[in-house]
Amino acid sequence: MELTNSSAIVTGGASGLGAATVRALAERGARVVVFDRNEAGAKQVADEAGGEPFAGDVTDPEACQKAVDLAAEGGVLRVAVNCAGTGWAERVINREGKPHDIRGFEFLMRLNVIGTFNVMTKAAAAIAKTEPSVDGERGVIVNTASVAAFDGQIGQLAYSASKGAVVGMTLPAARDLSVVGIRVLTIAPGLFDTPLLASLPEEQRRALGESVLFPKLLGQPSQFAQLVVDIVGNRYLNGEVIRLDGGIRMPPR
Ligand SMILES: NC(=O)c1ccc[n+]([C@@H]2O[C@H](COP(=O)([O-])OP(=O)(O)OC[C@H]3O[C@@H](n4cnc5c(N)ncnc54)[C@H](O)[C@@H]3O)[C@@H](O)[C@H]2O)c1
Repeated sequence: MELTNSSAIVTGGASGLGAATVRALAERGARVVVFDRNEAGAKQVADEAGGEPFAGDVTDPEACQKAVDLAAEGGVLRVAVNCAGTGWAERVINREGKPHDIRGFEFLMRLNVIGTFNVMTKAAAAIAKTEPSVDGERGVIVNTASVAAFDGQIGQLAYSASKGAVVGMTLPAARDLSVVGIRVLTIAPGLFDTPLLASLPEEQRRALGESVLFPKLLGQPSQFAQLVVDIVGNRYLNGEVIRLDGGIRMPPR
């Protein structure tokens, strides 16, 4: 898929994996809408990448429609990447024997699953209206899961459930959208060096890097962005979940 003069939308584009993806898509000629609830961060990344900021919440369907409309106005919308998301640490029962609070579970399902659903569905509808390229392709949607979808650790009940749902949406979405020439893929990252992990002490970050099979390092956001670009460029990739994790398999804790 050729990105020159195209448009793209990246959620969670103000930080981490999303910000790196914005930069990589912009470098390849796309005008990128940086959709994030962090208004200042979205503006900064958009300014750097020559894109357009959109401040909003991915759990709000109306905001998602407006962000997608903005992307569709800026060129031929070809790419949507869902990176907005976060984690939640809570066990099934806590140390006092109290059950997992449903509010944390609902919060994460709303953000990680419904947020992805909102932007994927609205972006797909907009991409489906575009003229296809000569090979019949209209666009690509990339969602972000986590290795926690497969190797959920202690305290990751809500996070693993939410990322498992993102994994589960991949194949049916690719099947639904095959008729309009839109591919759907999911990346399941391992441990990446983003603001999510930056708060940890250096020693703990190094230990996390050591736990990776090879290379014994945290992943860099640019490596995630590189995979997004590779997915966009390789039209035979579809309906798949790709682990990007240096071969790590997460232990129970
Ligand atoms: N960093 C890792 O090691 C890692 C590993 C596996 C999966 N992931 C997943 O990758 C994605 C990106 O993670 P990251 O490390 O870049 O995180 P990050 O915290 O650096 O960036 C997430 C961005 O999403 C935005 N966001 C959060 N809630 C939002 C909402 N409701 N509406 C709009 N924007 C919202 C935040 O403002 C932030 O800019 C997440 O889904 C995360 O679960 C990350």
